[in-house]
Amino acid sequence: MKATLAFDVYGTLVDPDGMAEHLARDMGVSSVAFAALWREKQLEYSFRRGLMQNYVSFAVCTADAFEFACRRFRVIVNAERREELMRLYQHLPAFDDAARALESLQDSFRLFAFSNGRSDDVAAVLSNARLRNYFEGIVSVDEVRSFKPNPAVYAHARRATGAWSSSLWLVSSNPFDIIGARSAGLDAAWVRRSDAMSYDPWGIEPTVTVRTLSELPGVLPSEPA
Ligand code: LAC
Repeated sequence: MKATLAFDVYGTLVDPDGMAEHLARDMGVSSVAFAALWREKQLEYSFRRGLMQNYVSFAVCTADAFEFACRRFRVIVNAERREELMRLYQHLPAFDDAARALESLQDSFRLFAFSNGRSDDVAAVLSNARLRNYFEGIVSVDEVRSFKPNPAVYAHARRATGAWSSSLWLVSSNPFDIIGARSAGLDAAWVRRSDAMSYDPWGIEPTVTVRTLSELPGVLPSEPA
C-alpha cells in the first residue's frame, strides 16, 4: 500500500504572511510585523484553547488574534474591513513550490491536507490557491475539537486517512507540528524554507528535513518500510 502524506496547510502550503500585503492598506509599514504577531497569537490561542479544553474553531482563534494585534499596534479596523480581511484569509498565496511538488507526489503517495482549520475553510483556502484537487481528502482537528499538537489529533489523522498498514507522514514547516507528530508516533518531514527557521531543542527530531517541498519525492519512501 502506498504511504500516506498528511500536509499541514497554513505555513506549509499557503503563506499566512501573505496577509501583510493586504494589511499595508490599513497600517502601512507595520503590516509585516502585524501579520507576524497575528500568526503567532493565532497559534498561541489554539495551544491555550487546547489545554483549557475550551474549543472554538481555528477561524475564531484567527479573529481573536487579529483583535489582539489591533490592540497591540493600536490600530482601529472597522467591522466591514475586518470581515473583508477574514475573507481574504481564505485567499492566502500558495508557496511557489507547492503545486509542482504535489503534482509529482500524487501518483506514488496518498495525499491529504491535515489542518487546525475547519474542513470547509481549508477546502476554500486550497481551492483558491489551486491546490485542492491534489488531495484525496481533508482531515480537520475540528472533528476531535482540539488542536495540534494534542496527540489525539494525530491519532485522528491515522483513523481518518485509514493509514493502518502503511506509513503515515506529516509534512509541515511548523516545528511544533513536527514534534507533535513524532511524539504521537508518526514520521514527519520538516520543510525548512529558510535558515531563519529554528527548531526546538527537545531531542525529538524530524524523520527528514527538506529545503523545499520539491525535494520530497527524492527523500520519502513511497512504500511502507
Ligand atoms: C495548520 C496550522 C498549524 O494548518 O497552521 O494546521
